[in-house]
This record gives sequence, C-alpha cells and structure tokens, in this order.
Amino acid sequence: MFISFFIKIPLCPKRAKPPTRVKMMSGILRPRSFYYLLHPRPVVVIVTLCEGGKANAMPASWVTPVSEEPTALAVAIDKENYTFTCIEYSKEATFNIPSQEHVNIVYGLGTVSGRAVDKVRMFNLRLGKANKVAAPIWLDAIGWIEGRVMNRVDVGETALYIFEVLDYYAKPDAVSEWGWKFDKASPLHHGSGRGFHTVGKLILASKTKQ
Ligand SMILES: Cc1cc2nc3c(=O)[nH]c(=O)nc-3n(C[C@H](O)[C@H](O)[C@H](O)COP(=O)(O)O)c2cc1C
Repeated sequence: MFISFFIKIPLCPKRAKPPTRVKMMSGILRPRSFYYLLHPRPVVVIVTLCEGGKANAMPASWVTPVSEEPTALAVAIDKENYTFTCIEYSKEATFNIPSQEHVNIVYGLGTVSGRAVDKVRMFNLRLGKANKVAAPIWLDAIGWIEGRVMNRVDVGETALYIFEVLDYYAKPDAVSEWGWKFDKASPLHHGSGRGFHTVGKLILASKTKQ
C-alpha cells in the first residue's frame, strides 16, 4: 500500500492495485488515502551502508523532526525496501537533502531497488565521508543530516525509525541560521507519483496581540 503511493500508474511503472476512484459524499472529496492530505512533503535521499560494504540510496518523504533534546528525526521505511535491510545491518544512515535540479535522480532512485542493482553506479552518485557515521554522504546534495538508530516501531508495512541526529550541515550559500534561503536553494517536496514541488511565496503571520 505504501509503496503503491510512490510507484503508481500512469506516473510510475509498478503499482500493485488499480487506483480507487475519489469518493464524493455530500460536498466532501475524499482522496484515495489520508496521506494525500499531508503531501507535498520534503524529500531526503537516505544513504545507507549495507552488508559487504555496499552503499545504497533511496528517496524518502515520510520523514520528520521529532525532538530537539536529544536531536532526533523519524522516518517510515517499507520493510520490503533494501534500505530497511541496510538500516537493520548498520543502524546508521545519512539524510541528504536534494535540490530541484536533482529531481530525475531522486525519482529514479525510488523506482529501483538496491537489492537488484548498484544504484550508486547506476546514478553516478558522488559519495564522500560523513563526519560521525560510517554511511557516506551524497556530495551533490545541498544539506546533510547524519543519524544513528535509537528506536524502531513496527507499523504495518513500515518500520518507523527514530534516528538520533549526530551532525547536520548544509552548503554555506544555501542556508542561514533560520534555514533554507529559498532564493538560493530549492529543496524538493514530493506530491504524488512523478509530481514534485518547490516552496512558494513567503507569508508572514501577524504578531499575536498579548
Ligand atoms: C519521492 C519519493 C519518496 C519516497 N518516500 C518513501 C518513504 O518515505 N519511505 C519508503 O519506505 N519508501 C519511499 N519511497 C519509495 C522508495 O524510495 C522505493 O521503494 C525505493 O526503490 C526503495 O529502494 P531500496 O530498495 O534500494 O531501498 C519514496 C519514493 C519516492 C520517489
């Protein structure tokens, strides 16, 4: 079910089930799943170190910060993915933030499994050494987070991993202390299938009157 969202007809090649129709009930539109209402979401490319020293990369958008003390993020990984096997093996990963120029690589990395191919070679990924973990970073990304597994919760077809954030950094011209400079950097957000978004205009909320 989870994979089918990312790999679906006609945008993606191997959807498990045919799409269900959007249901309409008395003025309400119900998309085919609840999570469509929670997209687009920022995409990361998770790089893991797998058995035999092989590196693997997969895009993920079901990822979120969950704590500042300790610094931690959560990510849902389908247990059929090779990345799941690699995380179970090494308990570490790097989360590489791609920009809009990487959209084809990002999508492509999500359509094949590292179990079947060497994705690093197939997509010519330039890898480099991370600071705190053995898993490499993808050098062409615009930001990086290094993490080690703290916890795992099994939720249906996915494993929800909590990673302690051991280090994080970004290209100096792409961020300020408040995060992305959107005139200089365009992190990718995943809508559905082959559809991606970049961040739109800034809207400033009014100051709350006390
Ligand atoms: C933009 C995008 C986001 C994705 N997000 C996730 C995700 O959050 N979790 C997940 O398990 N799979 C996600 N997928 C699907 C995996 O990337 C895909 O199944 C991939 O081929 C798994 O590769 P692996 O077997 O080498 O680990 C996403 C795919 C795309 C294209």
